[in-house]
Amino acid sequence: MTQPAKISISGLQGGYGDVQVLWDISLDVKPGELVCLIGSNGAGKTTLLRCISGTVPATAGKILVDGKDMTNATTADLVRAGIAHVPEGRRLFSAMSVRDNLLMGAYLRDDRTEIAADLDRVYTMFPILGERRRQDAGTLSGGEQQMCAIGRGLLARPSLLLIDELSLGLAPRAVELLIERLRDINRSGVAILLVEQDVMDALDLAERGYVINRGRVSMSGDSKTLAADPSVREAFMGLA
Ligand SMILES: Nc1ncnc2c1ncn2[C@@H]1O[C@H](COP(=O)(O)OP(=O)(O)OP(=O)(O)O)[C@@H](O)[C@H]1O
Ligand SMILES: [Mg+2]
Repeated sequence: MTQPAKISISGLQGGYGDVQVLWDISLDVKPGELVCLIGSNGAGKTTLLRCISGTVPATAGKILVDGKDMTNATTADLVRAGIAHVPEGRRLFSAMSVRDNLLMGAYLRDDRTEIAADLDRVYTMFPILGERRRQDAGTLSGGEQQMCAIGRGLLARPSLLLIDELSLGLAPRAVELLIERLRDINRSGVAILLVEQDVMDALDLAERGYVINRGRVSMSGDSKTLAADPSVREAFMGLA
């Protein structure tokens, strides 16, 4: 039997009250895959990730996780199903320590020894977070905050990590490091659905991508094909 997709979305619609943002979205991510979402400002990328992590309701369509219907499941159930969300803007608790922010990711777990081991893994992956573990998260640089947000996601032991705007506002060296770490995380078997405004970086990192246009999937395919597509190059890379 073939393994079911980690997530499989079909005919998804959703939005905020009367404001419908997502129209008939279909998309899947296989176990261990790295897939990117591309789209202009306001296209609905953040809303789609919120719908997948249970913070924006679906008004139609289906979200299957490992083959099981989890449309409109609670965020806690989705976390238990292996989905962790690194939100746009990082959303750390700035007056809490780095360590306590990381531990927020493990709020549904009670395997203390394993949690401690996962915390150590995050400190190995991002040594600066280990050095700053007692410092308030609000005092971290932008790049360090993103590391902390990713680390918090990893503390949930996800099999799918949703990442919204990896590089926004960060210096090139911080972005390079984060990209390397994402490759490592993905190599360790974690699937990633990535929203990244630098479309060249996104397509370089991902195997496949979806283009979202006004809440619909307007194009999808392997990264090489999308990167060579004239409309993608013109709209998102500033290349004619
Ligand atoms: N909380 C909200 N209430 C009402 N409308 C919202 C809310 N959040 C987003 N929207 C609207 O939903 C649409 C899609 O927004 P969304 O944030 O999903 O886009 P995006 O693709 O992530 O854009 P960006 O690249 O700027 O992050 C926009 O028109 C936006 O104004
Ligand atoms: Mg967004």
